[in-house]
Amino acid sequence: MEIAVVGTGYVGLVTGVSLSEIGHHVVCIDLNKDKVEKMRKGISPIYEPGLSELMIKNINAQRLSFTSDHRKGLQQADVIYIAVGTPENADGSAELSFVIEAAENIVACIERDVIVVTKSTVPVGTNDMIKDIIQSQLTSDLKVEVVSNPEFLKEGSAIHDSFHGDRIVIGADSEYAFNVIEKINQPFNVPIFKTDIKSAEMIKYASNAFLATKISFINEISNICELLGANIENVSTGMGLDQRIGSQFLKAGIGYGGSCFPKDTKALIQIAGNVAYEFELLKGVVNVNKKQQGLIIRKLTDCIPDISGKKIAVLGLSFKPNTDDLRESASILVTEELIKQGAEVVAYDPIAMDNAKTVLNSSIQYADSIEEAIENSDAALILTDWDEIKNVDLTVFNKMKNPLVIDGRNCFLVKDMETHGIEYRSIGRPAAVKKNEVTPI
Ligand code: UDX
Repeated sequence: MEIAVVGTGYVGLVTGVSLSEIGHHVVCIDLNKDKVEKMRKGISPIYEPGLSELMIKNINAQRLSFTSDHRKGLQQADVIYIAVGTPENADGSAELSFVIEAAENIVACIERDVIVVTKSTVPVGTNDMIKDIIQSQLTSDLKVEVVSNPEFLKEGSAIHDSFHGDRIVIGADSEYAFNVIEKINQPFNVPIFKTDIKSAEMIKYASNAFLATKISFINEISNICELLGANIENVSTGMGLDQRIGSQFLKAGIGYGGSCFPKDTKALIQIAGNVAYEFELLKGVVNVNKKQQGLIIRKLTDCIPDISGKKIAVLGLSFKPNTDDLRESASILVTEELIKQGAEVVAYDPIAMDNAKTVLNSSIQYADSIEEAIENSDAALILTDWDEIKNVDLTVFNKMKNPLVIDGRNCFLVKDMETHGIEYRSIGRPAAVKKNEVTPI
């Protein structure tokens, strides 16, 4: 089987590399020639633990190659994965022009019967549209089948997830297509669920929307905990022990970010709206997340009402640890608001600083370490729960003008911060305050 993957973004590259790792011949196609040149040398365009190592290994084993020439990449393929981006339109719907372009390229270049597998997250019905585009433009009698095979990889652990996922979903409408795609995926040794194409498309959106719902739910509970004096960590643990609920995705924080949850929740609201269904619950999830991303600023201004001219350290910029991705990260909104209110912002992230410099407000200063960022600062805001931040020696906060830490990810134990004399506000837990102060709720 010769496999081609169209698009070497996060999904496409991880898909191509892991398929080569289980023994397939894979060619990854991307129009960006510079990027292709780098990938040929095993240089990954994204920070993803383990990815570069697997790229180099499989390039050397001649199972993995890269090209910017569509025809070259597609003409010998038996199976073609579409893994291009589906960014968000202004109204929240998924932008499908890259998918359409990929389908048109496929039909123009193929020289064999192929199975086209859609990895990109696409609205229900898109695979039917891909099939229509291909059938209507096909000038030969080649046979083309279309399969939906959504991805469930988490950034930062995508390689691990490829080999230890909970399921592989295959949506197809022929036994032949099921068999081929099942056989390709068998070496992953992950349970396979076979279903119809539309349901496969929906599984992806429904899964992401459900996980986002869990996060917004626990964030709301955490806000209520704060008002009532309960502790969200204990509440999450107690809830998670119920296997019907499950312990994952119950970590309260400053909301979800990333390339999937924000985009896919809004897209699903649109998908439902297109068939005249108002997805009220999911609209609530999205609104709660927006509110939650602003929470850390409210906590800060509760402590320092006027932050103009104050030095504020921001620790952690990526939307979660182990990635350099800032897409929809709370750091965008938080730093923007800090600058707007006249604060002097000094930021630090273990990995995402290069990306941050291209994304965040240009008046932000960057530090080379946690220590440098917090030195003489009036407050430190924690936005990402990197291990480096969680494991920091707490005495470092004594370098601040007046140790005040506002933690959006509950990185430290309240009692430890108390012991170190640090004023500490976190999410859904009692505050650690300096002596003689009343604990605000
Ligand atoms: C997600 C899905 O998990 C994955 O299956 C899908 O393929 C792509 O989208 P990803 O965006 O990489 O993966 O990260 P994930 O680990 O799911 O975290 C998303 C966001 O939710 C992060 O901002 C994270 O900090 C936040 N989160 C996650 C919480 O706030 N609390 C939690 O308990 C879990």
